[in-house]
Amino acid sequence: MFKSLNDVVFDHGAKADLYIASADSIPASNNSVDLIVTSPPYWNKRDYGVAGQIGNEATPELYIEAMLKCLREWRRVLKPAGSLFINIGDSYYKKTLLNIPGMFENAAKNEGWTCRNRIIWSKPTGMPEPAKDRLANRYEYIIHLTPQSSNYYYDTRGYCDYLGVDATPGDVWTFAPDRSMSSHLAPFPKELVKRAILLACPYAICSKCGTPVTRVEKRTAQLNLERPQAKRALALAKEKGLTQAHIEAIQSFGISDVGKATRFQNGTGRNSDHVTKLALEAKEALGGYFREFTFAKRTTVGWQGCEHESMTRGVVLDPFAGTGTTLSVALEMGRNAIGTDLKPILNDSLRQRVTLYNQ
Ligand SMILES: C[S@@+](CC[C@H](N)C(=O)[O-])C[C@H]1O[C@@H](n2cnc3c(N)ncnc32)[C@H](O)[C@@H]1O
Repeated sequence: MFKSLNDVVFDHGAKADLYIASADSIPASNNSVDLIVTSPPYWNKRDYGVAGQIGNEATPELYIEAMLKCLREWRRVLKPAGSLFINIGDSYYKKTLLNIPGMFENAAKNEGWTCRNRIIWSKPTGMPEPAKDRLANRYEYIIHLTPQSSNYYYDTRGYCDYLGVDATPGDVWTFAPDRSMSSHLAPFPKELVKRAILLACPYAICSKCGTPVTRVEKRTAQLNLERPQAKRALALAKEKGLTQAHIEAIQSFGISDVGKATRFQNGTGRNSDHVTKLALEAKEALGGYFREFTFAKRTTVGWQGCEHESMTRGVVLDPFAGTGTTLSVALEMGRNAIGTDLKPILNDSLRQRVTLYNQ
């Protein structure tokens, strides 16, 4: 067990490789990538002036077909426990919104991907739009897809800590687009990449068996006292003389009603008769307020991996790397990165940190 991630030792620093290559032909081996964060060209929006570019297909259906070809290739390189966060925008055609993100999401689900979230990236500011007969668009979708419906790597606690909250955060991300100083027209914000990495890319992985280093959490008895219900729950617990064992019994039953939990969990061996008795006593004393203790704060007590001692860094891929936003954030967060783009545009400082391969 590691006390902190700073205790993990790697044999080299984080590195980023960028290939002049198409997003449907990634120069990486099968099951080698932990997380894909990307934003493809949107349909019918702009001309990147390069042969083989995606986005200029004659119809939305042909665009989705081109994206599916990419998706199959990404599935090949992504580890089974990996994730894809794709920021994909919609387009108008003959004045109607086409629902391109929905078309893509359905096509992905038909190919066996699981859609875990459709995150709304809400933009408090944006470019003025010429249309006068509709509202300006101020949001985009970031779709979180996984090859497996469960058991994918996901660090909710790390993300909560980053946002400074206790309960699972919501699926609306509000931040402004970064100002682009480059000639590239559509970089996505660093914040978007950072959140995806925090949520779904392990920091360290065993190079022998592939086990990621994961957080070891412990629930405390500390309540969020900004909630009036939590204050009342604490007062009641004190008044009725509940013990630490009572609180732990409530927590072991979780949010479900204790009466029901007794029925459902009978015979599972998960909660002993003694714990059940304590939980029922606590419920009697607290009424509905017993739930407050199931929201108690969690804390990280360390990090655990496997018994081997050979660590490698998590790997983030951006198949439409553009200005290298993903690569840059991945390096800053100690992950390795791979990018492909038919026509990347790196600024001088990033060019020094990225190895460029002309396939
Ligand atoms: C929306 S931009 C990505 C911007 C990127 N997220 C950033 O922060 O800079 C789309 C990129 O896809 C690239 N592109 C277009 N078709 C491609 C293809 N078939 N394979 C790889 N890259 C492609 C374009 O050159 C462009 O850089």
